Amino acid sequence: MYASSCLAVPLLSAAVKPVVAMFYYPNPAASALEHILVDNWGAYASNFSSAITPCDNYVTEVGLPAINSRRTTSAQWLRVAFHDFATADVAAGTGGLDASIGFETEREENSGSAFNDSFTFWQPFVNEFVSMADLLAVGTVMSVHLCGGKYIPYQYGRVDATAADPKTGVPEPSTSLEDTLAQFKQAGFNQSDAIALTACGHTIGSVHAGGFPTVVEESAITPNNTNGAVNLDDTRAVFDSAVVHEYIDSTGQRGGPLVTSFNETSRSDLRLYESDDNKTMLELYAQGDGFQETCVDLLGRMLNTVPAGVQLQPAIEPALIKPINVTWDITTNNQLVLSGKVRVLYTGEASDGPISITFSNGYTETLVPEENLGISAFKLSNSQTNTTTQYFPFSISSGNLSGVSSFAVTATGIENQEFQIQDKAFIVPSLSGVADGAVSVTVAARTNQPNFDPSKMLLKVATPIAQLLTLAPKVGRSDVQLLSVASPSENIGYWSGSVAIEKPTGAVSVSLLSGGDVIDILLLDSGVAGW
Ligand code: HEM
Ligand SMILES: *[C@@H]1O[C@H](CO)[C@@H](O)[C@H](O)[C@H]1NC(C)=O
Ligand SMILES: *[C@@H]1O[C@H](CO)[C@@H](O)[C@H](O)[C@H]1NC(C)=O
Ligand SMILES: *[C@@H]1O[C@H](CO)[C@@H](O)[C@H](O)[C@H]1NC(C)=O
Ligand SMILES: *[C@@H]1O[C@H](CO)[C@@H](O)[C@H](O)[C@H]1NC(C)=O
Ligand SMILES: *[C@@H]1O[C@H](CO)[C@@H](O)[C@H](O)[C@H]1NC(C)=O
Ligand SMILES: *[C@@H]1O[C@H](CO)[C@@H](O)[C@H](O)[C@H]1NC(C)=O
Ligand SMILES: *[C@@H]1O[C@H](CO)[C@@H](O)[C@H](O)[C@H]1NC(C)=O
Ligand SMILES: *[C@@H]1O[C@H](CO)[C@@H](O)[C@H](O)[C@H]1NC(C)=O
Ligand SMILES: *[C@@H]1O[C@H](CO)[C@@H](O)[C@H](O)[C@H]1NC(C)=O
Repeated sequence: MYASSCLAVPLLSAAVKPVVAMFYYPNPAASALEHILVDNWGAYASNFSSAITPCDNYVTEVGLPAINSRRTTSAQWLRVAFHDFATADVAAGTGGLDASIGFETEREENSGSAFNDSFTFWQPFVNEFVSMADLLAVGTVMSVHLCGGKYIPYQYGRVDATAADPKTGVPEPSTSLEDTLAQFKQAGFNQSDAIALTACGHTIGSVHAGGFPTVVEESAITPNNTNGAVNLDDTRAVFDSAVVHEYIDSTGQRGGPLVTSFNETSRSDLRLYESDDNKTMLELYAQGDGFQETCVDLLGRMLNTVPAGVQLQPAIEPALIKPINVTWDITTNNQLVLSGKVRVLYTGEASDGPISITFSNGYTETLVPEENLGISAFKLSNSQTNTTTQYFPFSISSGNLSGVSSFAVTATGIENQEFQIQDKAFIVPSLSGVADGAVSVTVAARTNQPNFDPSKMLLKVATPIAQLLTLAPKVGRSDVQLLSVASPSENIGYWSGSVAIEKPTGAVSVSLLSGGDVIDILLLDSGVAGW
């Protein structure tokens, strides 16, 4: 469809980093979060799971210092979510999971390095579509799911606070039983809920003398335990019911330092667990495997406690068929090509069967898988084994795709699925990027389309940027003025523009709008988040 005219193509400097322009299914937020939840290890792993693999890993340091720190990233993530939640006032509709904890790290009640350690790891994953609060919640889901517990259904759509929560009230080891129960109650959890939630939390990790010298004696600090960690139960990095059993049976860590502290004032878990004469702890003890279900329920309630007005989206389901990095682009010899990959998620091992992609104009291709497989912790159809992901790349010249509005993917044993697509106008990945403090974008649009006026297109840029007093980025927004420029073809027009941005902390997103609808999105510079 292209006349090979030799008009000038705008070029970007060589410093431009790789980009992704995509049709995201079902939307950019769900696509990114599903990637974190599902693509755990192996090919195209999201790199989120690596921080908690193995589960006793401490991602903030490396090598021997990490081991000797006796800190546990998976446990930190769970504790951070609790502290963010704990200042919720459900009657007033304030607080809960909103990442306000990032502004509150200097408070006595938030002692310890867990908060900034976790935010530092999560920061590059934040962008226009993914809030820090959603990452805080996904952190807990991942820690529990990958480290011995069950999967907590994950809803998204949390909104980041722009300042500290004026309310304080995270229970501390020295807090009286009365105040502790009142704090939980304000956050929507009654006495038995509070006891069980605390037992669910205190099944992984440690209390550290560095940070809590009134709970654990400073003599715990040694060359191979540099923060003086004393574990909450005998299985520090396994999400299991050991803490309950050791407490009731007086074995192992006997419930942990918050039960056994040398300092009676600091025995907050003992006070809490005994407050109903051990009734709840004995029930948890008797539940066996049911303990895991109880924790799924309570931790789910904790993660879904959000300020009034925040609307959580339906729980993300692992996609059996997922198109990834699907985008139009213009090749170096001025060909218009649609490329991408299809991820197929299999119960157990990958199937040998071919898969095919069929476009709405009838054009079909059989796809050949890449060799490297991915591994997911998701268990499908009650299977106990990990699932496998397989990737099928495609690259199809526009000549075969005239007028397409969708494509369907067919794979053996998996229901056919259809995905929408459009080719009115798109952001050209190879002619767009971030360099020298600015985003430069080229948009391509078909000429002579009825009901489509390219001069009415709008281009918006959203940049996650550092803000003071918290490691959670805020999102800066700007519009790009588009000007018509020379294009390589008569059938297509090019529009270009650029805008200065502050230094991004994660992926910069560019959205192309026509008539109020977003018709294409491009993620630039995703860096270590590695989308
Ligand atoms: C009465 C309520 C609670 C009190 C007083 C309390 C207090 C503490 C203290 C002092 C530590 C030691 C932190 C450190 O040394 O780094 C700790 C650790 C921890 N807490 Fe709690 N906690 C309570 C409830 C909860 C709840 C409800 C959860 C989660 C649902 C939770 C999750 C954790 C986790 C996972 C750790 C281990 C952190 C690590 O190893 O870095 N806590 N808690
Ligand atoms: C505490 O709340 C849970 C869940 O909402 C409920 O099942 C339980 O009966 C309540 N317990 C008390 C003592 O109110
Ligand atoms: C015991 O804990 C309380 C409350 O944190 C503190 O005031 C007191 O100094 C501690 N006692 C010792 C011996 O550390
Ligand atoms: C840590 O060092 C102490 C001696 O200082 C030793 O007894 C202990 O076994 C060591 N622990 C580990 C996990 O290496
Ligand atoms: C609760 O259980 C603990 C651990 O078995 C025990 O030390 C304590 O005395 C019990 N308290 C009550 C009130 O039953
Ligand atoms: C999608 O594109 C990004 C950026 O180029 C890349 O890091 C990622 O590996 C791609 N995903 C797949 C499945 O090819
Ligand atoms: C799932 O895969 C991980 C990473 O390869 C592995 O450590 C784990 O043991 C596997 N779990 C099961 C149930 O196969
Ligand atoms: C359409 O695809 C076939 C391969 O399926 C290829 O041989 C042909 O060149 C393509 N046609 C155009 C116009 O790109
Ligand atoms: C955590 O990071 C924020 C933002 O950089 C900083 O203001 C705060 O002091 C840090 N907190 C701690 C305990 O280091
Ligand atoms: C992935 O995360 C690990 C930490 O778990 C980090 O060391 C590594 O640099 C990350 N990889 C990429 C490609 O960003």
